[in-house]
Amino acid sequence: MSISIPSSAKPFLKWAGGKTQLIGEIEKRLPANFANGGYTYIEPFVGSGAVLFWMLSTYPNIKRAVINDVNEDLIGTYKAIAANAKELIGTLGAIQENYYSFGDNQQKKAEYYYKIRDDFNSRSKDKVTHAALFIFLNRTCFNGLYRVNRNNEFNVPMGAYKKPTICDSANIIAVSNILKKVDILCGDFEQTEQYASSESLFYFDPPYKPLNSTSSFNAYAKTDFNDHQQVRLKHFCSALDAKGYQWMLSNSDVRTSPNSSSFFDELYAQFNISRVKATRRINSNAQKRGELNELLITNY
Ligand SMILES: C[S@@+](CC[C@H](N)C(=O)[O-])C[C@H]1O[C@@H](n2cnc3c(N)ncnc32)[C@H](O)[C@@H]1O
Repeated sequence: MSISIPSSAKPFLKWAGGKTQLIGEIEKRLPANFANGGYTYIEPFVGSGAVLFWMLSTYPNIKRAVINDVNEDLIGTYKAIAANAKELIGTLGAIQENYYSFGDNQQKKAEYYYKIRDDFNSRSKDKVTHAALFIFLNRTCFNGLYRVNRNNEFNVPMGAYKKPTICDSANIIAVSNILKKVDILCGDFEQTEQYASSESLFYFDPPYKPLNSTSSFNAYAKTDFNDHQQVRLKHFCSALDAKGYQWMLSNSDVRTSPNSSSFFDELYAQFNISRVKATRRINSNAQKRGELNELLITNY
C-alpha cells in the first residue's frame, strides 16, 4: 500500500542539526531506482524530521516508513500528533492565547514560561498535554535548544521572541496525516534493523562529532553520543551493508576543523564519502555560524 500525503507537512519543532538545507545534496545521492517506489524508508535519528517530511511528500510511492529517536519527549510528541492531533491543537492553542495575552510584559511571559517548564519537568500530565508543553517550550525557549540535566529536567531559559508561532494548526494536521502511515519507535538506533525489508534505505543523521571541544552541541539526550557511539554506528552500518540494505549517513567534516582529524575518512574508508557545503544552524557563538563542509556517506 502506498502512502498518500499532503505536501505541506514540515517540521513542527526547531531542532539542532535540522537538515532542511542539506536536502538538495541528499536528493542527488538517493539510490538510482528510489523514485520507482517500493522502498522501506528508515530514519533512526529522526529529530525534527526535516528529511522525513520532505521524503514522504516527494516520494509518495515509498512503501513503508519507520522513524526512531532515543529522546522520549520528542517521540511522545510524534505519537501524540499522530493519534490525537485535534486534542493537542486545543491544548496548545489555549497555551498560545495565554502567552500572547501578556503582550510585551516580559515578566508575565517569563513567569508563564517557567511555570510551564516546571509542569513539563514534573512529568505528571497526560501524554497529549505533555506534548503540548514540549512544543510550547521548543517554540519559546532560547534558540529552540533542547537540553536536559542529569535528572532529565529541561533547563533551557526563555528566549527573546516577540510573538513566536506556537500552535501551527494546519501543519499539525498535515503532520498527523503523514504520521498515520509511519511506524514511530523510541530507543537506540540499532532497534530499527528488524524493520528493514529487501528494498530498504536508511538515512542516518546522528548527533554530529564536534569540530572542537567548544563547538560541541550534541546534548539532545541524557547520554552523550561520543566517539565510541560513532564507531558503534559504523559497525551497524557495515552489518546493514552485509545484508544488502542501502544507507546514507551525514556527519560533520572533522577534517576541516582546527584540530584536523581523519576520523570519518578512516572509519568509512570502504564506503563512498562526499563533502558538501552546509550552514550550521545552532552555534552558541553567532560569529562562528557560517559555511562548513559536511559529510554525506553512502554504501551504494
Ligand atoms: C542531528 S539530530 C537529527 C536531526 C534531524 N535530521 C533533523 O532534521 O532534525 C540527532 C538525533 O539523534 C538522537 N539520538 C541520540 N542518540 C541516539 C541513539 N543512540 N539512538 C537513536 N537516536 C539518538 C537525538 O535525540 C537527536 O534527535
